[in-house]
Amino acid sequence: MANTSEENGGNLKKQLAKLFEASLRETVPSEPDVEPLVAACTAKFGDYQCNNAMSLWSKIKGKNTDFKGPPAVGQAIMRNLPPSEMIESCSVAGPGFVNIVLSKTWLAEKIQKMLIDGIDTWAPKISVRRAVVDFSSPNIAKEMHVGHLRSTIIGDTLARMLEFSNIDVLRRNHVGDWGTQFGMLIEFLFEKFPNFEDINERDIGDLQTFYKASKQRFDADCDFKERAQKAVVRLQGGEPKYREAWAQLCDISRKEFDKVYQRLGVHLEEKGESFYSPFIPGVIEALTNQGLVQESEGARVIFIEGINIPLIVVKSDGGYNYASTDLAALWYRLNEEKAEWIIYVTDVGQQQHFDMVFKAAKRAGWLPADDRIFPKASHVGFGLVLGDDGKRFRTRATEVVRLVDLLDEAKARSKAALVERGKAEEWTEEELEQTAEAIGYGAVKYADLKNNRLTNYTFNYDQMLNDKGNTAVYLLYAHARICSIIRKSGKDIEELKKTGVLVLAHPDERALGLHLLQFAETVEEACTNLLPNVLCEYLYNLSEYFTKFYSNCQVVGSAEETSRLLLCEATAVVMRKCFFLLGIVPVYKI
Ligand code: ARG
Repeated sequence: MANTSEENGGNLKKQLAKLFEASLRETVPSEPDVEPLVAACTAKFGDYQCNNAMSLWSKIKGKNTDFKGPPAVGQAIMRNLPPSEMIESCSVAGPGFVNIVLSKTWLAEKIQKMLIDGIDTWAPKISVRRAVVDFSSPNIAKEMHVGHLRSTIIGDTLARMLEFSNIDVLRRNHVGDWGTQFGMLIEFLFEKFPNFEDINERDIGDLQTFYKASKQRFDADCDFKERAQKAVVRLQGGEPKYREAWAQLCDISRKEFDKVYQRLGVHLEEKGESFYSPFIPGVIEALTNQGLVQESEGARVIFIEGINIPLIVVKSDGGYNYASTDLAALWYRLNEEKAEWIIYVTDVGQQQHFDMVFKAAKRAGWLPADDRIFPKASHVGFGLVLGDDGKRFRTRATEVVRLVDLLDEAKARSKAALVERGKAEEWTEEELEQTAEAIGYGAVKYADLKNNRLTNYTFNYDQMLNDKGNTAVYLLYAHARICSIIRKSGKDIEELKKTGVLVLAHPDERALGLHLLQFAETVEEACTNLLPNVLCEYLYNLSEYFTKFYSNCQVVGSAEETSRLLLCEATAVVMRKCFFLLGIVPVYKI
């Protein structure tokens, strides 16, 4: 068994599955394809259970078998398990569940090994070399709204989890920089600033207001409208003056977006819609040659089985659209960038769009029909952000929320709470600022990530900044408290890692230790199912297990001090990794 833990990076479920796989081959050689079904136990008969006996029985009964029923199959699965240091005891319960109690000596050794080798040895193993995460993706000159905030937060976490899994991640900002709105914006720019080369964002002011004004002009004046429509053609044809004006507008927007990314500590690489425009004609032609594209009411479309509207790939005026760009981008990502997993993070409203694009790609043979096989494309949808009134989130009745203001407010409130607790006297101004940022931005992120992304969630500062309950504040404080226990012990933790021995004797120590070791399978699950809330739930439970341990087991000054300090350190290390993966900056003192 020497190598299993290395091979599986600490994933208990996978290591047990290997053992059960060996047992299943031995128990029913006639069914070599049966996959082991291993799950964490919910009832207290054990830590994990193997659930194969029942379904296996229905496969083999009536055939030439000596078994008398599912419990007997369970007994045999248990008997045939290869010996392993992982397992302390097994039993068969009910209709044939095989329950496993893990060895606490083994658990303790694994935790100590992680403390020495580092938590990266617990990274998930996913057989993908490169992935694209297409997230954030606001539209130039239009508002970057809370939907884009959700996409930014969720996308960053997914990218972090995939990076942790040693996947090369291309973090793509697919900004909307190529729509027909640019004709109108550019014409308006020429009109207002004949010397547009010298302008900067101060002249234009708020781009959203600029957008509104140019839209008004567009709707009111036929001449202007005509010029605007011609401007799109000239821009897309590459005329320098138009390209330059376009680049100016993009630049101003980009600076605004960057303020949000900078606050959130999110890194993205922009490849906007315009980037893919040169690839569209070729891609459409290839799809046409494959017989996928048909004429319909003047447009060119791809029909998708099971969906009553077709995917329009060339509009009736001959222009391209959102879908044409997404097909070209998908083609590019698969063929030029050699990505094996392409992940799109947008609101659920775009689900059908992506469903159609992916199905078209499958028809074209770009992607395998079976979603379990890479290369694959996944749409990561999310619900709305709601205000306290249960409606779409806005600050005032009509106005949209500026994301920068929203984040600054979270920071200001968390700073005020710290000042109220006397931290302005205790800490340097820099410490105060940094902690306020970590807590304020962390709170916004965690409030978003902790829910299943498909559900709507209510944006409420008081709730997210509460220091009790399932919030970032509570979790950051829990971490800081652990750090302070270690600090106050006066022991050199690095030294203890080498010389001390971790033992899981008390039931609450064991429960905490087991939960720590379940980190690897949890991140793997969060990663494969693209569900950050799975990791949030794990983190919250971790702090609960820690609290229970800490209230029942004396650490500093006890006979078990060394072992318990190591357990504290392991908890802090795992918490910090969770924070890191969620894009939250940890704090070390409170
Ligand atoms: N710009 C789009 C929006 O604001 C999101 C783009 C998502 N990515 C994509 N490849 N379509 O809704």
